[in-house]
Amino acid sequence: MQLKQALTAAIDTLTANAVGSPRMNAETLLMFVLHSDRAYLYAHPEYELTADEQARYDEAVAERSTGKPAQYITGHQEFWGMDLIVSPAVLIPRPETEHVIETVLELARTKQAPRIVDVGTGSGCIALALAAELPWARVEAVDISPAALEVARANAARLQLDHRIIFQQRDLLAGAPAATYDVVVSNPPYVPESEPEKAQREVREFEPKVAVFAGESGLEVYRRLVPQAHEALKPGGWLVVEIGYSIERAVHELVKDWAEVRITPDLQGIPRVVAARR
Ligand SMILES: C[S@@+](CC[C@H](N)C(=O)[O-])C[C@H]1O[C@@H](n2cnc3c(N)ncnc32)[C@H](O)[C@@H]1O
Repeated sequence: MQLKQALTAAIDTLTANAVGSPRMNAETLLMFVLHSDRAYLYAHPEYELTADEQARYDEAVAERSTGKPAQYITGHQEFWGMDLIVSPAVLIPRPETEHVIETVLELARTKQAPRIVDVGTGSGCIALALAAELPWARVEAVDISPAALEVARANAARLQLDHRIIFQQRDLLAGAPAATYDVVVSNPPYVPESEPEKAQREVREFEPKVAVFAGESGLEVYRRLVPQAHEALKPGGWLVVEIGYSIERAVHELVKDWAEVRITPDLQGIPRVVAARR
């Protein structure tokens, strides 16, 4: 089958299975199968797929039709200009998490050699972006999931940042040394188990539960992390957390006694990052 026909057939299949953005998904999966870029797809519509390429494309389209995110099929996601490996063991890094990076950079740039810990590192996206941007920072990254840490370590090695980050399996900051860090940063799970529909179906069904859900209210991880971070931060140090839709007030309440609180909205104007100074 020719490339353009294969694309059209894939778009029809994805549309029939109610997959959003069917053209973009069909193109992404074809680029993955052909190891090509988008320009190649447009320049070579007549290219005849080999039997092997066709079989792999059909398989990828069938998988995507079940709702499995394209990133878990291709194994890649871009974040902060870096190509990251992702697997179903980690949350797919989201563009809005880049606001967390911007906030930390603003707060940490003036420090000589800031000590930073990324809590719930997942793919490692936050720790890796900060290590890349802040060459003098000492960066640690923790996660409760050994499988996630494996992915984060692999990303660090691929990006040649493995000598810059210490990865550790840990339950949040339990047992962390007191008054040690300049920045505690986290994008914790925050979907309430009582309202799973607050996450999209693809997220609920395919992304790791431990990365998405946080107890009945969705606030359980913040409730444990805020006092632990207060303990682990140096005086004047910052806690920077991503927040989900509609929990700004509840998270603000948890840090209301801190020295200073700053809230940053995302590009849609939704409060997205809470920064609190010890
Ligand atoms: C929302 S994901 C964020 C992943 C990544 N930092 C990002 O921004 O894409 C939350 C992460 O926290 C981890 N996590 C959940 N509970 C934890 C706990 N009690 N201690 C440490 N990590 C935890 C999960 O395994 C998951 O990797």
